[in-house]
Amino acid sequence: MTSTILTIAMPKGRIFEEAVQMLRNAGYDLPPEFEDSRKLIIDIEQANMRFILAKPMDVPTYVEHGVADVGIAGKDVMLEEKRDVYEVLDLGISRCHLAVAGLPGIELDSVAPKIASKYPNVASSYFRSQGKQVEIIKLNGSIELAPMIGLADRIVDIVSTGRTLKENGLVETEKIMDITSRFIVNPVSYRVKAKVIDDMVGRLEKVIEGKEVVR
Ligand code: PRP
Repeated sequence: MTSTILTIAMPKGRIFEEAVQMLRNAGYDLPPEFEDSRKLIIDIEQANMRFILAKPMDVPTYVEHGVADVGIAGKDVMLEEKRDVYEVLDLGISRCHLAVAGLPGIELDSVAPKIASKYPNVASSYFRSQGKQVEIIKLNGSIELAPMIGLADRIVDIVSTGRTLKENGLVETEKIMDITSRFIVNPVSYRVKAKVIDDMVGRLEKVIEGKEVVR
């Protein structure tokens, strides 16, 4: 009899370690070298699990297309790219927030201020909701550079410890929303692999509630 293999899309980078720890706490026996590997596909045969290690912004894409059954993605990513996936659990990890920031003492008074962000859709809908017309400049990283060198009047970005803003002489001007990581599921996989996905959801729920998980 062949067992069902569950493919899990994991976000590389700062969320990764917390996400791996959460799965270990949920009773999944992931080897210690898991974090050190440069492999992009890691099979854990005894657990019938396959992990694919993707850029955080791409995790929902893999899950939407069904090449991953489930995944872990930040709410920031979920808001930026509306994907056809189920957002099943708020894992409560990788807590940070989305904010508007800029140089201190500079008012946002130009007619269409320039806003730099990795999250053009989030930034645009936030300013629209505030009744402000802005010009969005999409960047892929090091967003804090933009106001410092005169590319933008403000940025919309993730703030975690606040160190990047502080060390670059920027201040937060508006908080947009709190962000945590979510457990997402492909709708077809949820039907076809219901048993194994429900088991994973149940285990993760226990970890979220602070209960012990029986391995
Ligand atoms: C993120 C974010 C900020 C920084 C915030 O960038 O875009 O730049 O982290 O973290 P902090 O408040 O703890 O300083 P990331 O390190 O992911 O790299 P990037 O700039 O290349 O996007």
